[in-house]
Amino acid sequence: MAYQRVLTQYINEPGSYTLDSYLKHQRGYEGLRKALTLKPGEIIDQVKASGLRGRGGAGFPTGMKWQFVLKDTPKPKYICCNADESEPGTFKDHVLMERNPHLLIEGCAIGCYAIGAKVAYIYIRGEFYHVQQILEAEIEKAYKAGYLGKNIFGSGFDCDVYVHRGAGAYEAGEETALIESLEGKRAQPRIKPPFPAVAGLYQCPTAVNNVETLCNVPLIIMNGPEWFSKLGPEKNGGPKLYCISGHVKKPGVYEAAMDTTLRELIYDERFAGGMMDERPMKAVIPGGSSVPLLLPDQLDIPASFDGVQKAGSLLGSAGLIVFNDSVCAVWLAMNLLHFYRHESCGKCTPCREGTDWLLKLLMRIERGEGQPKDLDLLFGVSNNIVGKTLCAFGDAAATPVLSTMKLFRDEYEAHIRAGACTLPAPWRAKHAMAGAH
Ligand SMILES: Cc1cc2nc3c(=O)[nH]c(=O)nc-3n(C[C@H](O)[C@H](O)[C@H](O)COP(=O)(O)O)c2cc1C
Repeated sequence: MAYQRVLTQYINEPGSYTLDSYLKHQRGYEGLRKALTLKPGEIIDQVKASGLRGRGGAGFPTGMKWQFVLKDTPKPKYICCNADESEPGTFKDHVLMERNPHLLIEGCAIGCYAIGAKVAYIYIRGEFYHVQQILEAEIEKAYKAGYLGKNIFGSGFDCDVYVHRGAGAYEAGEETALIESLEGKRAQPRIKPPFPAVAGLYQCPTAVNNVETLCNVPLIIMNGPEWFSKLGPEKNGGPKLYCISGHVKKPGVYEAAMDTTLRELIYDERFAGGMMDERPMKAVIPGGSSVPLLLPDQLDIPASFDGVQKAGSLLGSAGLIVFNDSVCAVWLAMNLLHFYRHESCGKCTPCREGTDWLLKLLMRIERGEGQPKDLDLLFGVSNNIVGKTLCAFGDAAATPVLSTMKLFRDEYEAHIRAGACTLPAPWRAKHAMAGAH
């Protein structure tokens, strides 16, 4: 049976973001109404039974995360919705917030009720000013309609939702850096443990959940955990948004179940529709810029958390960046290292210094001044970052280098031998305009 979209079914209709549209098309706030007739623990049980895994990158089970939130404490508890969405190649959360904001608002309210919180903060990326305007206007409508505020549906449950806009930093998406930033400090990660579930925002128990994760919660409560878990392969249930960019015919955000293969996502007419100009594919980064590349003969796998991991990469934020054969592997790594070097928060020395050295080495090779020993150096510097930083940024930054060196070492060597990029000149010229060289 064809997959029926549930997160994005109405997003292309005019006014899809309004409360009226949400009530008319998506049984808006019925999930919250139902949730408030249950005990908080029952909601956590349902989310656990659904198998919902976090959509922010790590795929950690959401029900378990909520269960870990410290209960036996007089301190307030918080939901922090991670709407920072700064991973290169990732652009799904802003679509949900811009076109279907009430699904997130409802998800925040149910999440608060489940963990015993009364306040949710939506931490939104600095560049999403227009999305913040929409969200705040719709939150206001939800208050007026009695879906937020005091004594929701006469249940005695109070809930406030605030939007906080960051200043545009990738690191602010890391959960403890996000919390620091919400507290008015620099977005730098904390040492873990303690984890946010024990000491998060203002040192109080906190659940940090991605936008898409929270959007799935009302659907689980309304349709039941079994419905959710059966959408997709075992332990990889529910609807999933994929962001597909790069050298494909139809880049965009696509919703599918996780039994869809990477090949279908890239080549099928329902999704990205194949390679632009019919050029052969060279590689794909399947989960945002922080995960290892996969090759064209590795596409016949489910685009699920487990499927992509089995193939040697990660689903991450489900941002597929597709490259054709005009893209030089050295240039690709250099381009991404420009980003990581710029975005490193500077707290951990291996990341702060290492990203700078990696970029310098890659630029030297790309300029044609590389030396054979540079490859060992690239490898050494990368391995001095991986696993040696407070947060996963360091591992993410080293991945483009390690992955391209593993798959395309010949290109690095050829660069050094020839003193220049050795990809055929016509392709370099053609794609220079697009920034490929
Ligand atoms: C450098 C870095 C940036 C991150 N950026 C984001 C982000 O923009 N959005 C997000 O949801 N998670 C991001 N994460 C993952 C979060 O730390 C966290 O795992 C996630 O918000 C948890 O939500 P989930 O369980 O719903 O996936 C980032 C992690 C790192 C290390």
